Amino acid sequence: MKRKTFLQSLGLGLTAAGASRLMAGQLSLPEFNSTRPDDYWQALKAGFDLQPGYRYFNAGGLGPSLRAVREVGSVVAAELEAIVDTGHDRQGPVRERAAVFLGCTPEEVAFVRNATEANGIVAGGLPLQAGDEVIFESHAHPGGSFPWMLQAERRGVAVRLFEPDIKNPAGNLERIQALVTDRTRVVQISHVTAPTGVHLPAEEIARFCRDRGLWFHIDGAQSAGMIPVNFSSLGCDSYATSGHKWLGAPRETGLLLVKRDRQESLRSTMAGAYSGDLFDLPGPIAYYPGAMRYEYGTRDNARIVGLGAAMDWQDRIGRERIEAHGRRLAARVHAGLESIPDTEVLSPTEPSLRTAMVSFRTPKMTYEDMFSALRRNHGCRCRPVSERGLDAVRISCHVFNTADDIDFLLAAIEQEVKSA
Ligand SMILES: Cc1ncc(COP(=O)(O)O)c(C=O)c1O
Repeated sequence: MKRKTFLQSLGLGLTAAGASRLMAGQLSLPEFNSTRPDDYWQALKAGFDLQPGYRYFNAGGLGPSLRAVREVGSVVAAELEAIVDTGHDRQGPVRERAAVFLGCTPEEVAFVRNATEANGIVAGGLPLQAGDEVIFESHAHPGGSFPWMLQAERRGVAVRLFEPDIKNPAGNLERIQALVTDRTRVVQISHVTAPTGVHLPAEEIARFCRDRGLWFHIDGAQSAGMIPVNFSSLGCDSYATSGHKWLGAPRETGLLLVKRDRQESLRSTMAGAYSGDLFDLPGPIAYYPGAMRYEYGTRDNARIVGLGAAMDWQDRIGRERIEAHGRRLAARVHAGLESIPDTEVLSPTEPSLRTAMVSFRTPKMTYEDMFSALRRNHGCRCRPVSERGLDAVRISCHVFNTADDIDFLLAAIEQEVKSA
Protein backbone atom coordinates (compact mmCIF):
# COMPACT_ATOMS: atom_id res chain seq x y z
CA MET A 1 0.00 0.00 0.00
CA LYS A 2 1.33 3.49 -0.82
CA ARG A 3 2.48 5.40 2.25
CA LYS A 4 -0.10 8.14 1.80
CA THR A 5 -3.00 5.73 1.30
CA PHE A 6 -1.94 3.73 4.34
CA LEU A 7 -1.89 6.86 6.51
CA GLN A 8 -5.26 7.96 5.22
CA SER A 9 -6.68 4.51 5.93
CA LEU A 10 -5.95 4.97 9.64
CA GLY A 11 -8.68 7.60 9.68
CA LEU A 12 -8.35 8.22 13.41
CA GLY A 13 -8.82 11.31 15.44
CA LEU A 14 -10.69 14.51 16.03
CA THR A 15 -13.24 14.95 13.26
CA ALA A 16 -14.18 18.32 11.79
CA ALA A 17 -17.55 18.09 13.57
CA GLY A 18 -15.76 17.25 16.82
CA ALA A 19 -13.46 20.22 16.37
CA SER A 20 -16.41 22.57 15.75
CA ARG A 21 -18.14 21.32 18.90
CA LEU A 22 -14.96 21.78 20.86
CA MET A 23 -14.50 25.31 19.58
CA ALA A 24 -18.14 26.33 19.95
CA GLY A 25 -18.04 25.28 23.62
CA GLN A 26 -15.08 27.55 24.27
CA LEU A 27 -16.54 30.95 23.62
CA SER A 28 -20.04 32.31 23.27
CA LEU A 29 -20.32 35.55 21.36
CA PRO A 30 -23.22 38.00 21.52
CA GLU A 31 -25.22 38.72 18.39
CA PHE A 32 -23.32 41.43 16.47
CA ASN A 33 -25.06 44.76 16.94
CA SER A 34 -23.81 47.48 14.63
CA THR A 35 -24.87 50.23 17.04
CA ARG A 36 -22.77 48.65 19.84
CA PRO A 37 -20.02 46.84 17.93
CA ASP A 38 -17.57 46.85 20.83
CA ASP A 39 -19.76 44.54 22.92
CA TYR A 40 -19.01 41.90 20.33
CA TRP A 41 -15.28 42.58 20.11
CA GLN A 42 -14.92 42.78 23.86
CA ALA A 43 -16.52 39.33 24.17
CA LEU A 44 -14.24 37.98 21.49
CA LYS A 45 -11.21 39.45 23.22
CA ALA A 46 -12.07 37.26 26.23
CA GLY A 47 -11.32 34.24 24.03
CA PHE A 48 -7.63 35.21 23.88
CA ASP A 49 -5.18 34.73 26.72
CA LEU A 50 -3.53 38.13 26.62
CA GLN A 51 -1.95 39.13 29.92
CA PRO A 52 -4.30 41.46 31.87
CA GLY A 53 -3.48 45.09 31.18
CA TYR A 54 -1.47 44.22 28.08
CA ARG A 55 -2.68 45.89 24.90
CA TYR A 56 -1.41 44.17 21.80
CA PHE A 57 -1.18 46.04 18.48
CA ASN A 58 1.12 43.77 16.52
CA ALA A 59 -1.02 41.21 14.68
CA GLY A 60 1.07 42.13 11.64
CA GLY A 61 4.14 40.72 13.41
CA LEU A 62 2.70 37.77 15.26
CA GLY A 63 -0.96 37.22 15.99
CA PRO A 64 -2.21 35.59 19.17
CA SER A 65 -4.39 32.49 18.72
CA LEU A 66 -7.81 32.11 20.21
CA ARG A 67 -7.77 29.69 23.13
CA ALA A 68 -10.28 27.62 21.15
CA VAL A 69 -7.85 27.26 18.25
CA ARG A 70 -5.00 26.19 20.50
CA GLU A 71 -7.29 23.72 22.23
CA VAL A 72 -8.05 21.95 18.94
CA GLY A 73 -4.31 21.79 18.21
CA SER A 74 -3.50 20.35 21.61
CA VAL A 75 -6.24 17.69 21.41
CA VAL A 76 -4.85 16.58 18.05
CA ALA A 77 -1.26 16.70 19.34
CA ALA A 78 -2.26 14.45 22.25
CA GLU A 79 -4.02 12.02 19.91
CA LEU A 80 -0.96 11.81 17.70
CA GLU A 81 1.37 11.35 20.66
CA ALA A 82 -0.77 8.50 21.95
CA ILE A 83 -0.26 6.51 18.76
CA VAL A 84 3.12 8.07 17.92
CA ASP A 85 1.97 9.11 14.46
CA THR A 86 2.93 12.04 12.23
CA GLY A 87 -0.74 12.68 11.46
CA HIS A 88 0.02 13.40 7.83
CA ASP A 89 -3.47 12.18 6.96
CA ARG A 90 -4.86 15.18 8.87
CA GLN A 91 -3.63 17.50 6.14
CA GLY A 92 -6.24 16.50 3.53
CA PRO A 93 -9.29 18.10 5.20
CA VAL A 94 -7.30 21.23 6.08
CA ARG A 95 -6.11 21.52 2.48
CA GLU A 96 -9.73 21.45 1.36
CA ARG A 97 -10.68 23.94 4.05
CA ALA A 98 -7.86 26.27 3.03
CA ALA A 99 -8.90 26.05 -0.62
CA VAL A 100 -12.44 27.18 0.18
CA PHE A 101 -11.13 29.89 2.49
CA LEU A 102 -8.63 31.28 -0.01
CA GLY A 103 -10.58 30.78 -3.24
CA CYS A 104 -8.46 28.16 -4.95
CA THR A 105 -8.46 24.38 -5.41
CA PRO A 106 -6.89 21.95 -2.92
CA GLU A 107 -4.32 21.09 -5.61
CA GLU A 108 -3.12 24.69 -5.46
CA VAL A 109 -2.36 24.61 -1.72
CA ALA A 110 1.04 23.75 -0.20
CA PHE A 111 1.63 23.76 3.55
CA VAL A 112 4.92 25.45 4.37
CA ARG A 113 6.28 26.91 7.59
CA ASN A 114 5.89 30.61 6.90
CA ALA A 115 5.60 33.26 4.21
CA THR A 116 9.38 33.52 3.95
CA GLU A 117 9.64 29.86 2.99
CA ALA A 118 6.84 30.26 0.45
CA ASN A 119 8.52 33.33 -1.07
CA GLY A 120 11.80 31.41 -1.16
CA ILE A 121 10.25 28.50 -3.06
CA VAL A 122 9.04 30.93 -5.73
CA ALA A 123 12.32 32.87 -5.93
CA GLY A 124 14.44 29.71 -5.95
CA GLY A 125 12.14 27.57 -8.11
CA LEU A 126 11.55 29.79 -11.14
CA PRO A 127 13.88 29.03 -14.05
CA LEU A 128 15.85 32.29 -14.10
CA GLN A 129 19.24 33.12 -15.54
CA ALA A 130 21.88 35.69 -14.73
CA GLY A 131 20.62 39.10 -15.84
CA ASP A 132 16.93 38.18 -15.59
CA GLU A 133 15.08 40.82 -13.62
CA VAL A 134 12.58 40.85 -10.78
CA ILE A 135 10.64 43.92 -9.69
CA PHE A 136 9.30 44.39 -6.18
CA GLU A 137 8.59 47.27 -3.82
CA SER A 138 11.33 48.99 -1.84
CA HIS A 139 9.25 48.45 1.32
CA ALA A 140 9.39 44.64 1.03
CA HIS A 141 9.86 42.86 4.35
CA PRO A 142 13.10 40.84 4.65
CA GLY A 143 10.90 37.74 4.27
CA GLY A 144 10.04 39.02 0.78
CA SER A 145 13.30 40.65 -0.25
CA PHE A 146 15.95 38.27 1.10
CA PRO A 147 14.79 35.31 -1.02
CA TRP A 148 15.46 37.48 -4.08
CA MET A 149 18.76 38.83 -2.80
CA LEU A 150 19.79 35.19 -2.34
CA GLN A 151 18.95 34.58 -6.00
CA ALA A 152 20.94 37.69 -6.90
CA GLU A 153 23.93 36.16 -5.09
CA ARG A 154 23.48 32.65 -6.43
CA ARG A 155 22.12 33.12 -9.93
CA GLY A 156 22.84 36.74 -10.80
CA VAL A 157 19.15 37.74 -10.82
CA ALA A 158 18.86 41.54 -10.97
CA VAL A 159 16.54 43.30 -8.53
CA ARG A 160 14.61 46.46 -9.47
CA LEU A 161 12.71 48.36 -6.80
CA PHE A 162 9.70 50.67 -6.94
CA GLU A 163 8.61 53.01 -4.18
CA PRO A 164 4.97 52.36 -3.17
CA ASP A 165 2.72 55.21 -4.28
CA ILE A 166 0.61 55.99 -1.24
CA LYS A 167 -1.40 58.78 -2.85
CA ASN A 168 -2.51 57.38 -6.16
CA PRO A 169 -3.39 53.64 -6.39
CA ALA A 170 -2.76 53.59 -10.16
CA GLY A 171 0.70 55.07 -9.59
CA ASN A 172 1.91 51.71 -8.32
CA LEU A 173 1.32 49.95 -11.62
CA GLU A 174 2.83 52.92 -13.47
CA ARG A 175 5.98 52.67 -11.35
CA ILE A 176 6.22 48.94 -12.08
CA GLN A 177 5.66 49.54 -15.80
CA ALA A 178 8.45 52.11 -15.82
CA LEU A 179 10.90 49.43 -14.61
CA VAL A 180 9.93 46.68 -17.05
CA THR A 181 12.56 45.74 -19.63
CA ASP A 182 12.91 42.81 -21.99
CA ARG A 183 14.79 41.02 -19.18
CA THR A 184 11.95 41.32 -16.66
CA ARG A 185 10.64 37.90 -15.69
CA VAL A 186 8.93 38.37 -12.34
CA VAL A 187 6.91 41.00 -10.49
CA GLN A 188 6.31 40.57 -6.78
CA ILE A 189 4.34 42.80 -4.44
CA SER A 190 3.39 42.67 -0.81
CA HIS A 191 -0.41 42.57 -0.92
CA VAL A 192 -0.29 44.83 2.13
CA THR A 193 3.11 46.36 2.80
CA ALA A 194 4.68 45.65 6.16
CA PRO A 195 6.22 49.03 7.14
CA THR A 196 3.20 51.29 6.57
CA GLY A 197 0.25 49.01 5.69
CA VAL A 198 -0.39 50.04 2.07
CA HIS A 199 -2.93 47.85 0.24
CA LEU A 200 -1.36 47.57 -3.21
CA PRO A 201 -3.73 47.13 -6.19
CA ALA A 202 -2.99 43.47 -6.92
CA GLU A 203 -5.68 42.79 -9.54
CA GLU A 204 -4.53 45.60 -11.85
CA ILE A 205 -0.91 44.53 -11.55
CA ALA A 206 -1.95 40.92 -12.24
CA ARG A 207 -3.68 41.92 -15.48
CA PHE A 208 -0.59 43.74 -16.67
CA CYS A 209 1.72 40.81 -15.79
CA ARG A 210 -0.54 38.32 -17.50
CA ASP A 211 -0.56 40.36 -20.71
CA ARG A 212 3.24 40.65 -20.60
CA GLY A 213 3.85 36.97 -19.72
CA LEU A 214 5.51 37.91 -16.40
CA TRP A 215 5.26 35.70 -13.33
CA PHE A 216 3.29 37.60 -10.69
CA HIS A 217 3.87 36.61 -7.08
CA ILE A 218 2.04 38.13 -4.12
CA ASP A 219 3.57 38.12 -0.66
CA GLY A 220 0.35 38.00 1.34
CA ALA A 221 1.86 37.72 4.81
CA GLN A 222 -0.14 40.82 5.80
CA SER A 223 -3.35 40.13 3.90
CA ALA A 224 -4.76 36.66 4.70
CA GLY A 225 -6.87 37.10 7.80
CA MET A 226 -6.82 40.90 7.64
CA ILE A 227 -8.87 41.19 4.45
CA PRO A 228 -10.81 38.54 2.50
CA VAL A 229 -8.42 36.91 0.00
CA ASN A 230 -9.53 35.12 -3.15
CA PHE A 231 -6.58 33.63 -5.00
CA SER A 232 -8.54 33.00 -8.15
CA SER A 233 -9.82 36.57 -8.50
CA LEU A 234 -6.48 38.13 -7.53
CA GLY A 235 -5.16 36.75 -10.82
CA CYS A 236 -1.59 36.13 -9.62
CA ASP A 237 0.46 33.02 -10.34
CA SER A 238 1.46 32.41 -6.74
CA TYR A 239 0.61 33.72 -3.28
CA ALA A 240 2.43 33.29 0.02
CA THR A 241 1.18 33.82 3.53
CA SER A 242 1.73 33.01 7.20
CA GLY A 243 -1.01 31.57 9.38
CA HIS A 244 0.54 33.00 12.52
CA LYS A 245 -0.26 36.66 11.89
CA TRP A 246 -3.77 37.87 11.06
CA LEU A 247 -5.25 34.40 10.83
CA GLY A 248 -4.43 33.68 14.46
CA ALA A 249 -3.26 30.16 13.60
CA PRO A 250 -0.41 28.39 15.41
CA ARG A 251 3.15 29.46 14.60
CA GLU A 252 4.85 27.88 11.61
CA THR A 253 1.68 27.40 9.62
CA GLY A 254 2.42 29.07 6.29
CA LEU A 255 0.79 28.58 2.92
CA LEU A 256 2.02 28.73 -0.65
CA LEU A 257 -0.62 28.82 -3.36
CA VAL A 258 0.43 28.16 -6.95
CA LYS A 259 -1.91 28.14 -9.95
CA ARG A 260 -2.39 24.58 -11.09
CA ASP A 261 -1.37 25.29 -14.69
CA ARG A 262 1.78 27.15 -13.56
CA GLN A 263 3.17 24.41 -11.34
CA GLU A 264 5.21 22.82 -14.12
CA SER A 265 7.07 26.15 -14.45
CA LEU A 266 7.89 26.39 -10.74
CA ARG A 267 10.35 23.70 -9.70
CA SER A 268 10.62 22.37 -6.17
CA THR A 269 13.52 23.76 -4.16
CA MET A 270 13.47 20.84 -1.70
CA ALA A 271 12.10 17.34 -2.15
CA GLY A 272 11.60 14.29 0.02
CA ALA A 273 8.87 12.05 1.39
CA TYR A 274 5.46 13.56 0.49
CA SER A 275 6.78 15.51 -2.55
CA GLY A 276 6.06 12.66 -4.93
CA ASP A 277 6.96 9.06 -5.70
CA LEU A 278 10.31 7.59 -6.61
CA PHE A 279 9.88 4.06 -7.90
CA ASP A 280 13.48 3.18 -8.77
CA LEU A 281 16.61 4.58 -7.22
CA PRO A 282 18.38 6.24 -8.94
CA GLY A 283 15.55 7.61 -11.01
CA PRO A 284 13.32 10.60 -11.59
CA ILE A 285 10.96 11.90 -8.92
CA ALA A 286 7.35 11.69 -10.04
CA TYR A 287 6.11 14.84 -8.29
CA TYR A 288 2.54 14.79 -7.07
CA PRO A 289 0.21 16.58 -9.43
CA GLY A 290 -0.50 19.55 -7.22
CA ALA A 291 1.18 22.02 -4.92
CA MET A 292 1.96 19.13 -2.56
CA ARG A 293 5.04 18.75 -4.72
CA TYR A 294 6.54 21.69 -2.81
CA GLU A 295 6.15 19.89 0.52
CA TYR A 296 8.58 17.43 2.05
CA GLY A 297 9.33 15.64 5.29
CA THR A 298 7.66 15.34 8.65
CA ARG A 299 5.52 18.24 9.87
CA ASP A 300 3.73 19.20 13.06
CA ASN A 301 0.29 18.31 11.76
CA ALA A 302 -1.51 19.27 14.96
CA ARG A 303 -0.55 22.84 14.08
CA ILE A 304 -1.84 22.41 10.56
CA VAL A 305 -5.17 21.24 12.00
CA GLY A 306 -5.02 24.39 14.15
CA LEU A 307 -4.68 26.43 10.95
CA GLY A 308 -7.96 24.93 9.72
CA ALA A 309 -9.57 25.77 13.07
CA ALA A 310 -8.37 29.37 12.79
CA MET A 311 -9.98 29.63 9.36
CA ASP A 312 -13.22 28.25 10.82
CA TRP A 313 -13.10 31.00 13.42
CA GLN A 314 -12.55 33.72 10.90
CA ASP A 315 -15.55 32.52 8.95
CA ARG A 316 -17.60 32.31 12.12
CA ILE A 317 -16.84 35.96 12.88
CA GLY A 318 -17.15 36.93 9.21
CA ARG A 319 -14.23 38.06 7.10
CA GLU A 320 -15.90 41.25 5.87
CA ARG A 321 -16.70 42.07 9.49
CA ILE A 322 -13.06 41.54 10.48
CA GLU A 323 -11.86 43.75 7.67
CA ALA A 324 -14.37 46.49 8.51
CA HIS A 325 -13.43 46.35 12.21
CA GLY A 326 -9.71 46.67 11.47
CA ARG A 327 -10.30 49.58 9.12
CA ARG A 328 -12.63 51.32 11.57
CA LEU A 329 -10.05 51.10 14.37
CA ALA A 330 -7.22 52.15 12.06
CA ALA A 331 -9.27 55.17 10.96
CA ARG A 332 -9.67 56.03 14.65
CA VAL A 333 -5.89 55.79 15.10
CA HIS A 334 -5.33 57.92 12.04
CA ALA A 335 -7.77 60.63 13.10
CA GLY A 336 -6.44 60.57 16.67
CA LEU A 337 -2.83 60.98 15.55
CA GLU A 338 -3.76 63.90 13.34
CA SER A 339 -4.90 65.78 16.41
CA ILE A 340 -1.70 65.07 18.37
CA PRO A 341 0.87 67.81 17.66
CA ASP A 342 4.31 66.68 16.47
CA THR A 343 3.20 63.38 15.01
CA GLU A 344 3.28 62.41 11.36
CA VAL A 345 1.24 59.56 9.87
CA LEU A 346 3.09 57.64 7.15
CA SER A 347 0.22 55.38 6.12
CA PRO A 348 -2.06 56.33 3.23
CA THR A 349 -5.11 58.53 3.56
CA GLU A 350 -6.50 57.39 0.19
CA PRO A 351 -9.32 54.94 1.15
CA SER A 352 -8.51 52.14 -1.32
CA LEU A 353 -4.91 51.98 -0.10
CA ARG A 354 -5.75 51.96 3.62
CA THR A 355 -5.72 48.89 5.83
CA ALA A 356 -5.85 47.86 9.49
CA MET A 357 -2.28 49.11 10.03
CA VAL A 358 -1.14 52.68 10.65
CA SER A 359 2.47 53.83 11.07
CA PHE A 360 3.52 57.14 12.55
CA ARG A 361 6.60 58.95 13.78
CA THR A 362 7.49 62.01 15.80
CA PRO A 363 10.54 64.27 15.46
CA LYS A 364 10.64 64.44 19.26
CA MET A 365 11.63 60.81 19.86
CA THR A 366 13.39 58.04 18.00
CA TYR A 367 11.12 55.25 16.87
CA GLU A 368 12.95 52.91 19.24
CA ASP A 369 12.30 55.20 22.20
CA MET A 370 8.64 55.61 21.29
CA PHE A 371 8.20 51.86 20.83
CA SER A 372 9.89 51.11 24.17
CA ALA A 373 8.05 53.85 26.07
CA LEU A 374 4.67 52.61 24.85
CA ARG A 375 5.53 49.11 25.95
CA ARG A 376 7.24 49.91 29.23
CA ASN A 377 5.10 52.80 30.50
CA HIS A 378 1.70 51.82 29.11
CA GLY A 379 1.70 48.09 28.33
CA CYS A 380 1.04 48.79 24.62
CA ARG A 381 2.91 46.48 22.26
CA CYS A 382 3.31 47.97 18.77
CA ARG A 383 6.05 47.29 16.20
CA PRO A 384 9.15 49.39 15.54
CA VAL A 385 9.62 50.20 11.83
CA SER A 386 13.30 50.48 11.01
CA GLU A 387 12.95 49.73 7.29
CA ARG A 388 14.15 52.28 4.72
CA GLY A 389 14.95 54.83 7.40
CA LEU A 390 11.24 55.32 8.08
CA ASP A 391 11.92 55.37 11.83
CA ALA A 392 8.28 54.83 12.70
CA VAL A 393 6.04 52.81 14.98
CA ARG A 394 3.34 50.60 13.46
CA ILE A 395 -0.05 49.94 15.02
CA SER A 396 -1.98 46.86 13.87
CA CYS A 397 -5.70 46.71 14.69
CA HIS A 398 -7.35 43.33 14.85
CA VAL A 399 -10.20 41.36 16.37
CA PHE A 400 -8.88 41.44 19.93
CA ASN A 401 -8.60 45.26 19.86
CA THR A 402 -11.44 47.58 20.79
CA ALA A 403 -12.08 51.29 20.42
CA ASP A 404 -11.14 51.62 24.11
CA ASP A 405 -7.74 50.11 23.40
CA ILE A 406 -7.18 52.62 20.62
CA ASP A 407 -8.15 55.56 22.83
CA PHE A 408 -5.81 54.29 25.54
CA LEU A 409 -2.98 53.99 23.02
CA LEU A 410 -3.60 57.46 21.60
CA ALA A 411 -3.53 58.96 25.09
CA ALA A 412 -0.26 57.12 25.74
CA ILE A 413 1.29 58.45 22.52
CA GLU A 414 0.17 61.98 23.33
CA GLN A 415 1.63 61.79 26.82
CA GLU A 416 4.95 60.47 25.53
CA VAL A 417 5.21 63.11 22.79
CA LYS A 418 4.33 65.92 25.23
CA SER A 419 6.85 64.83 27.80
CA ALA A 420 9.67 64.21 25.32
C1 LIG B 1 5.11 41.29 3.87
C2 LIG B 1 5.80 40.26 4.72
N1 LIG B 1 6.40 39.22 4.14
C3 LIG B 1 7.00 38.26 4.85
C4 LIG B 1 7.03 38.31 6.23
C5 LIG B 1 7.71 37.23 6.98
O1 LIG B 1 6.78 36.41 7.62
P1 LIG B 1 7.26 35.06 8.30
O2 LIG B 1 8.24 35.44 9.35
O3 LIG B 1 6.03 34.47 8.84
O4 LIG B 1 7.90 34.25 7.23
C6 LIG B 1 6.41 39.37 6.89
C7 LIG B 1 6.42 39.45 8.36
O5 LIG B 1 6.04 40.40 8.98
C8 LIG B 1 5.78 40.38 6.13
O6 LIG B 1 5.19 41.42 6.70
